[in-house]
Amino acid sequence: MTIHIGAAPGDIAETVLMPGDPLRAKWAAETFLDDAVCVNRVRGMLGFTGTWRGHRVTIHGSGMGMPSISIYANELVRDYGARTLVRIGSCGGMQPHVKLRDVVIAMTASSVSTPSSTIFREVNFAPAADFGLLRAAAEAARRLGVPHHVGGIYSSDTFYDEREDLNAVLTRHGILGVEMEAAELYNVAARHGARALGIMTVSDHLQTGEALPAAEREQSFADMVRIALEAAFA
Ligand code: HPA
Repeated sequence: MTIHIGAAPGDIAETVLMPGDPLRAKWAAETFLDDAVCVNRVRGMLGFTGTWRGHRVTIHGSGMGMPSISIYANELVRDYGARTLVRIGSCGGMQPHVKLRDVVIAMTASSVSTPSSTIFREVNFAPAADFGLLRAAAEAARRLGVPHHVGGIYSSDTFYDEREDLNAVLTRHGILGVEMEAAELYNVAARHGARALGIMTVSDHLQTGEALPAAEREQSFADMVRIALEAAFA
């Protein structure tokens, strides 16, 4: 047990998929895993461990925002021995060619700051995905016929962001989408020699104002789970 995870030692697999929403973790475990058992429910942050094609996998919620994912990623890696962490979430599209429902595979994650900024001090560390996972996810997305983009994203601390100038600068520098967790996930993984990747469905678009209806999010979420599982065990 850790402060935020009630699982017994050995209950967590080396490969962990991390949706933001704990109920998505439950849905994904019930839909994709065999013999899934609930291993955490502390603060309602559900985690499940089961098998996919014979491989042991944990699907554990991350919560929203970098402080939240930082807590879970730290405990999963340091206390439970997780070695591969794949975020599956949503993002806001920031380029005209990045359409609603497309999948964004995050090669890098820019930010204004992260919970690791105090450690890096004056260094502008470049949080980056594990290349093997990145390549395998892109190949899986292509095989599954899921429209996708590979490139940089922006991990923001605010959903209700009023800095339109900041979004404009990031768009001008080719950033594909905005979400709120990947940069810190990449930082924590780098610090502990683990592999990390963020895969995000475009659920809304900053330029067009469009948003995906709730019912359609499930289909996109299922595509991401498939991509994440295939990438993790490629
Ligand atoms: N902003 C921040 N995070 C997000 C967004 C957004 O527009 N969409 C999904 N996650």
